[in-house]
Amino acid sequence: MLLKIDSLKEEIDIQQVSNAEELESFRLKYLSKKGILNSLMEEFRTIPVEQKREVGQKLNELKVFVNEKFRLLKEGLTTAEDPALAEIDLTRSATPFPTGSRHPLSIVRNDIIKIFSDMGFTIAEGPEIEDDWHVFSSLNFPADHPARDMQDTFFISRNPVDVLLRTHTSSVQTRTMEKTKPPIRIVCPGRVYRNEAISARAHCFFHQIEGLYIDKNVSFADLKQVLLNFARQLFGPETKIRLRPSYFPFTEPSAEMDISCDICGGKGCAFCKETGWVEILGCGMVDPNVLRECGIDPDIYSGYAFGLGIERITNLKYKVKDLRMFSENDVRFLAEFESAR
Ligand code: PHE
Repeated sequence: MLLKIDSLKEEIDIQQVSNAEELESFRLKYLSKKGILNSLMEEFRTIPVEQKREVGQKLNELKVFVNEKFRLLKEGLTTAEDPALAEIDLTRSATPFPTGSRHPLSIVRNDIIKIFSDMGFTIAEGPEIEDDWHVFSSLNFPADHPARDMQDTFFISRNPVDVLLRTHTSSVQTRTMEKTKPPIRIVCPGRVYRNEAISARAHCFFHQIEGLYIDKNVSFADLKQVLLNFARQLFGPETKIRLRPSYFPFTEPSAEMDISCDICGGKGCAFCKETGWVEILGCGMVDPNVLRECGIDPDIYSGYAFGLGIERITNLKYKVKDLRMFSENDVRFLAEFESAR
């Protein structure tokens, strides 16, 4: 009887059905009242007592096996026959799930940071709500000096301490110099605020990246070379730069940097107002007063700083005509930059 059970198991194991009728004849053959399983049960009653234990166990296993096989065959059949399931083409590629895209200002900010971090600059950040000292006084803006009017400020409170929204990321310079000893080589990306009427060309907030390098023997030539390298990496190897004398309270000498217009290649066009040049940043050698104010000895150390507007650079790269687009969150606008990631 043991042999019989074993060969039956093998026979059942290879059974296949392709429709409901075949499934039914499987059931009739093995599982019905007059089926093989029941007749084996009958036979079991007649075997000698000493075999009962072993055979009974095998028989039970077979019972479980046949029932499980029946369940599997039935399951296979329903899946194949269900028209709803049959209509699903499992080989089709999935519908892409929209994942959004990076904001153009983030793309450009990351590009700029990458260029400077390749040159050894690390990232420093500071608060957007600041006090007068970090934004103005430490940076050599004397009290009541007209230089403060250069940047129209949003004040949160005045007297006894002025609390304000930072008007430039130069405040992060000060914060870093306060707590770090030279050499210092940082870029500070962040949002800044100015009290301006909102239009296509001005907004009450925008984004800057400030750069600062302080060490022994840092010269204007170092600044110029770093900025040339930066401009060529961002705008292409043919890019030329030009430095014009300018004024910032915290740098001396100060300059503004132009790059050759990448639309007309420097010949002159409407974009560069026929000059062939477009302004991209302010820079200069850190004023000794600023170093002193932040606890760094200007007789030992010197340094340069530069600051640029991310919106401005983004406009140059992507020709966005209206600044307000950057903060309106229109996904049609934002999706245009997907390929630029
Ligand atoms: N902070 C200046 C501005 O906001 C830019 C600047 C930074 C200029 C560092 C010189 C040096 O316009």
